Amino acid sequence: MEHKVAVFRKEHFNAAHRLFCADWSDEKNTTVFGPCANPNYHGHNYELVVQVNGVPDAQTGFVINTKDLSTIVQQEIISRFDHKNLNLDTTEFKNLNPTAENIAIVIYNLIRPRINKELDLKIRLYETERNFVDYPA
Ligand code: NI
Repeated sequence: MEHKVAVFRKEHFNAAHRLFCADWSDEKNTTVFGPCANPNYHGHNYELVVQVNGVPDAQTGFVINTKDLSTIVQQEIISRFDHKNLNLDTTEFKNLNPTAENIAIVIYNLIRPRINKELDLKIRLYETERNFVDYPA
């Protein structure tokens, strides 16, 4: 009898971004992306929730050691994106709009190879207290 458990690790990073389509006028970018289209960039306090689902190990009782999970998130995500301009300072968003949706997908793809294949991974990313995304949906 296997009982899956969801384990969550919350992390936090600050980053600047600008959402825009290069082919569009400033006016159209502002219409679609609002303040996030500001040409001089702006910051968000991102809240990241990494979820790992699996069956607790028979010996340790852990689905995943949260210390190890914290280390993975620090190495792959926080050190890469914290206090960075996502458009200018990262390779991941050179040609990809750094929306919450795309950031969540990028974070998933960076963490997934570091997590045991038998475990499910889900990413929740809060761009503001009211706006957040889940990946996979
Ligand atoms: Ni924004």
